[in-house]
Amino acid sequence: MSDEVSPSRVVSSVRLGDDDQFEAGLRPRTLDAYIGQERLRENLEVSIAATRQRGEALDHVLLYGPPGLGKTTLAYVIANELGVPIRTTAGPVLEKPGDLAAILTNLKEHEVLFIDEIHRMSPVIEEILYPAMEDYELDIVIGQGPGARSVKVPVQRFTLIGATTRAGLLTAPLRARFGIVHRLDFYRDVDIQEIVGRSAGIFGVPIDDDATAEIARRSRGTPRVANRLLRRVRDFAEVRADGAITQSVALRALELLEVDSNGFDEADRRLLRAIIDKFGGGPVGLNSIAAAISEEKEAIEDIYEPFLIQIGFLDRTPRGRVATARAYDYFGLPAPDREGRLW
Ligand code: ADE
Repeated sequence: MSDEVSPSRVVSSVRLGDDDQFEAGLRPRTLDAYIGQERLRENLEVSIAATRQRGEALDHVLLYGPPGLGKTTLAYVIANELGVPIRTTAGPVLEKPGDLAAILTNLKEHEVLFIDEIHRMSPVIEEILYPAMEDYELDIVIGQGPGARSVKVPVQRFTLIGATTRAGLLTAPLRARFGIVHRLDFYRDVDIQEIVGRSAGIFGVPIDDDATAEIARRSRGTPRVANRLLRRVRDFAEVRADGAITQSVALRALELLEVDSNGFDEADRRLLRAIIDKFGGGPVGLNSIAAAISEEKEAIEDIYEPFLIQIGFLDRTPRGRVATARAYDYFGLPAPDREGRLW
């Protein structure tokens, strides 16, 4: 088959984002070591224990939610708890049906296949996946034109773990094939504090409680952000202080990084200011915002908006995005009187 590639090219070849390679050493490997997301953790504990007792493959799992909350981490934890290897790939990497077919036919019984950004898989790839998920077989077309014929190739009983920032972009038939579906939420402040403390312990860097709380507060309820800030504050502590992270060291480092007490950086402020200054506070459509601040629509929707909505600085209405009174207040501006106006 000309479009077949060796699995090594597409398995474990997800582009490691800036943070992923650093994050790897900080990832918990067991559900016990995993902090936060209690309900999700308990549900997974039950599913995994039952699966192990029955000696079966775990049902397919879909994890969705904003970036940085630990979907990849959880996929690795699940495989580890099941005691099986995990193969990793990503929706955009799977270009040809042969790419996925090669991966699937190489999976051994009960192994986990992790597909990150599963919403970015092409429809032809999805067609390969359906029968593999449901009946553990592939429908492969051999040849072209009138001589083409379809053969069924069995695959081992495996577990697919799909991760996406946007469950809404999955096609209904794909979503329907996941038996276990969980949303990851932003973490509570106490959980992020615990994560910062744990990571500092792994780094072997001394940190006091006030500094831990300071970093946690600015981490947008997101472990990846917390660990990134911790690494930058550790740099600062080593270069501008004696290596220990005290509250004053943390505050100076965070100020230098221009991460404010809400965890906003320059991009968040630019987004809110654009809605307020250029569009009268909204409602304004996503396309207009993206053009005004030269950002990708997807980055706005996936990365910036969920947190701004969660903390009540932004509203998503049927007519577009609206900056809330809290956002005006943050910039020291009077909020427009929207009384009686239908957004
Ligand atoms: N590092 C990143 N996410 C984590 C989590 N949820 N628990 C523990 N450590 C983490």
